[in-house]
Amino acid sequence: MIGDIEVRFEPQGKRIRIRRGQNILEAASRAGILIDAPCGGKGLCGKCKVRVRNEKLVPSPAEEKLLSPEEIERNIRLACQYFPQSDVVVEILEPAIESIGKVELEKGLFRIRSRCPVSKFFLSLPPPSLEDQRSDEERLLSALAKADRIAPFVRLRLPKILREANFQVTATVVEGEVIAIDKGNTEREIYGVALDIGTTTLAAYLLHLPTGTKVASYSALNPQTIYGADVVSRINYTIEKKEGLAEMRQRVLEGINKLLDEVCSFSGVCKEKIYQATVVGNTCMTHFFLGVDGRNLAFSPYVPAFSRTVQLRASEAGLDICPDARVYILPNIAGFVGADTVGIILATGLYKKKGFYLALDVGTNGEIALGSREGITVCSTAAGPAFEGAHIQFGMHATSGAINRVYIEDDVRIGTIDGGAPRGICGSGLLDAVAEMLKAGLIDSSGRMLSPEEAEGFSPALRERLLIYEGDRCFVLSRAEENALGRDIFISQRDVRELQLAKGAMRAGIEILLKEMGIEARQLEGVFLAGAFGNYIRRESALTVGLLPPLPLDKIFMVGNAAGRGAMMALALPSALRRAEEIARNCHYIELTASPEFTNYFMDGMLFPEYNVLSFK
Ligand code: FES
Repeated sequence: MIGDIEVRFEPQGKRIRIRRGQNILEAASRAGILIDAPCGGKGLCGKCKVRVRNEKLVPSPAEEKLLSPEEIERNIRLACQYFPQSDVVVEILEPAIESIGKVELEKGLFRIRSRCPVSKFFLSLPPPSLEDQRSDEERLLSALAKADRIAPFVRLRLPKILREANFQVTATVVEGEVIAIDKGNTEREIYGVALDIGTTTLAAYLLHLPTGTKVASYSALNPQTIYGADVVSRINYTIEKKEGLAEMRQRVLEGINKLLDEVCSFSGVCKEKIYQATVVGNTCMTHFFLGVDGRNLAFSPYVPAFSRTVQLRASEAGLDICPDARVYILPNIAGFVGADTVGIILATGLYKKKGFYLALDVGTNGEIALGSREGITVCSTAAGPAFEGAHIQFGMHATSGAINRVYIEDDVRIGTIDGGAPRGICGSGLLDAVAEMLKAGLIDSSGRMLSPEEAEGFSPALRERLLIYEGDRCFVLSRAEENALGRDIFISQRDVRELQLAKGAMRAGIEILLKEMGIEARQLEGVFLAGAFGNYIRRESALTVGLLPPLPLDKIFMVGNAAGRGAMMALALPSALRRAEEIARNCHYIELTASPEFTNYFMDGMLFPEYNVLSFK
């Protein structure tokens, strides 16, 4: 589309023409540069900052509110609020979404006793002759005891490949169908990929299927993040915009296919040799992945379009692997408890535990499962995006430079992801900071932060960190001269309230499930903390702020991306795929919004506990 205004993005050097009336966020998206936009471009979060170099327009009311006077002076603007009137050069200040968060996942070995559902056969076929005029199809199938048909894509390529390979070929067979044909002997090259589509993060795990060994795994931010940090913003986008759903699907497919490029180039595996894929994700993400309208998920009674395992071919799913590879989307449990929770239950073995265990996936939405081999009850809480760093003044995703560790004694010590110069605070950093402030007495159990005047008994270093900024009490974690932002990075009173809302909702969900199962927290055999957030969180901090009920530390297990591990199990073991279906069918779902007790538990859950975490060791 030719527009009348040119926008050039730096440092990418990309140019795009836009129409008058389009904003920089849209221009960036069309140029293939994804700017983080947790509020979906509504001018509420203040995260989509860019610097406009050669045009200075009057700031919008949202910019006046969300940007500091110094930022406005430097012409730092909100991409979603800035509508260029002439050709502009726009500086991207934060690493663009596509270039951050692309990290190799845990390097540890994953090996499972695989029951490979894919077979390969090296064949040395007799070439045709006047005495043997069988078709290429008959020639191939008569040599294969385990196959009785050929997939359409293979049929197209068969004559050429047979002749180029001098009739020495390898056939790949799944469920009696030849789904791929290679020249020569490729019998050992059988791969599958497990995909976890999170609201914030996409993850891909490449498995060598015959041995059940993980050969590579990568994660990246979900490119849909530009439509908002939470699923409801994205559903709204698909409702408000005619092509919104198709756009949403295209975005996630682009992200996944890029990730497939990464895992394959890292491991030297050809994408065509991936013959099976399993997919987990929350219910909304699985809808978007399939291009299915998810609007009913956003409105009571929150009904998904599908809940059973979906099977289709890679070419139908839009995955850039062997076109006839089988793709399985694991079943959903309810509108807000999806296939990712099924993956967690599968991976943690919750469904076969003797005693009661709790599994929590702490993220933009918090999913909670409580149960044993006797039965499992699940619920979902709109925990709010605070745990992903959204709605927090200096919040950011858990990527390089994010403050993820905070220690407070006479002064503050911080740690960042990758040890980079601090750029902001991720969810685990926020949790840590609030836990340490509670222990130090800088916050009381109601969540109220001390004012500078009230901090008399504290060390001078701590007192200096308490400030009032725009009428809000703040505590500085990193000073302007020590960080990459060049301004103080702090936790504000409002940030503490956001955390209280998020953890209050999670805690209310836990308490309601405990009550439903008729048990008390002390009867729990263990708690599994899953999800990206669960990787970085400190157990002590989770207990100190009361995200979890009081339990001994050794009963809390960090299980990383258990949803992804569940997807890997379903990939390597047909029995796990069947088990996933049983789990989804048998889980008892509780709708928290319909629970009359939710509000009371939520209010209690927002308070910080007064117990000493050390006493639970
Ligand atoms: S303020 Fe622009 S995306 Fe939120």
